[in-house]
Amino acid sequence: AAPILTQLRGKCATPLPVLRRVADAMAADIRAGLAADGGDGLPMILSYVDTLPTGGEKGLFYALDLGGTNFRVLRVQLGGKDGRVIDTEFQQVSIPQELMFGTTEELFDFIASELARFVEKEGDRFQLRQEMKREIGFTFSFPVKQTSVDSGILIKWTKGFAVSGTAGRDVVACLNEAMERQGLNMHVTALVNDTVATLAGARYWDDDVMVAVILGTGTNACYIEHTDVIPKLQGPKPSSGRMVLQIINTEWGAFSNSLPLTEFDRDMDSASINPGEQIFEKTISGMYLGEIVRRILLKMANTTALFGVSAPEKLCTPFTLSTPNICAMQQDESDDLLTVGTILNDVVGAQSSLSARKTVVEVCDTIVERAGRLAGAGVVGILQKMEQDSKSLIFGKRTVVAMDGGLYGHYPQYRKYLQDAVTELLGPETSKNVVIDHTKDGSGIGAALLAAANSKYAN
Ligand code: BG6
Ligand code: GLC
Repeated sequence: AAPILTQLRGKCATPLPVLRRVADAMAADIRAGLAADGGDGLPMILSYVDTLPTGGEKGLFYALDLGGTNFRVLRVQLGGKDGRVIDTEFQQVSIPQELMFGTTEELFDFIASELARFVEKEGDRFQLRQEMKREIGFTFSFPVKQTSVDSGILIKWTKGFAVSGTAGRDVVACLNEAMERQGLNMHVTALVNDTVATLAGARYWDDDVMVAVILGTGTNACYIEHTDVIPKLQGPKPSSGRMVLQIINTEWGAFSNSLPLTEFDRDMDSASINPGEQIFEKTISGMYLGEIVRRILLKMANTTALFGVSAPEKLCTPFTLSTPNICAMQQDESDDLLTVGTILNDVVGAQSSLSARKTVVEVCDTIVERAGRLAGAGVVGILQKMEQDSKSLIFGKRTVVAMDGGLYGHYPQYRKYLQDAVTELLGPETSKNVVIDHTKDGSGIGAALLAAANSKYAN
């Protein structure tokens, strides 16, 4: 296995010049995407969120969160200026696998019925029959072409979803129809990406938050942009002297320039349900890291007898090895790598010698190091663009990047590699000002805050 490992390390290496190239390419693709839709740039989706939470938001709001590992329904009590009291209750379920491949109606009926169940359980049913509809912030974590803050058309599914008939449709209309079928008298006032909700949620507590990044099943980032540097933004330009802002959803998962890729990445992409798409996402996010490792181990098993004479059968099945599996293996600090052995045995049916286990850990580390460092380069690319093109002072003052998602939350090595890359790229002085902060579940509260900010009833 040694020669394959050496070659792999070489191909996945991310020394400073590689990181620089990636950060510069990210900044360039951001600019291209702001200039026009449909070119070589990133999607750079306008969120129509142009007011940030103030802390004065008040009232009871619901939030739906679809697109991560779990589907969540939340009820958030916002306390207003005096005290910012927040009380949240939530319920979460994983989306049944068959719904990811079903019809639009099946998926949205499931969402609406979970919402109805929650509302009923929480005893808010009575109010819902009143004149005043309860309002919802809908976090929908897929690329949506927004037409306003409360409507948007699904561009395409990502992260393994392949629900038929949704692309090209307004997802708020789909939800409204399903809510009607459930007899729910509720109303979506804000449709937001998870990155946008995370930014809003984090900004509620900290005025220095300028960027939000999700590293979970998929990956994405958004940031606060000045509208006068968004050429593709139609309509009246801001009047002079007034700075007008808008949160922009980069959809950076679609980025693909300058990445150090291997045959394993290319093969995984070709076999995927969206070949040629979401290449950055396929290189750095949770849905794919375990699968890249599995493909490498399979080659080692087949060509170097890593796990004995023949490759274990289960190792041949796509997605048997998950990112939580490789994360758990990397946490094993025992001399005989007992946990690694157990996981290999239980998950892919492989009997392993100590040296095979060491090789496996090195493979995991190589793939996770590349992913974490590339994510760090992406973050720097965004900050670089903000510093250069906007009047935002980014590097000269405290700037917070709000991070969320299971991969970031649960993988210590990933977090470290990401931070290392940011520090290397920015240098020790500048990087002190850039705070990479784990905001757990800002997106639920963020969606509720944006529902409040766009409420039809709040005065
Ligand atoms: C959560 C956010 O913490 O992370 C969600 O609240 C986001 O909005 C999610 O979609 C991503 O999580 P996962 O399950 O993909 O790791
Ligand atoms: C995928 C989606 C994007 C989302 C991200 C993180 O990349 O396309 O909209 O923000 O996953 O959940």
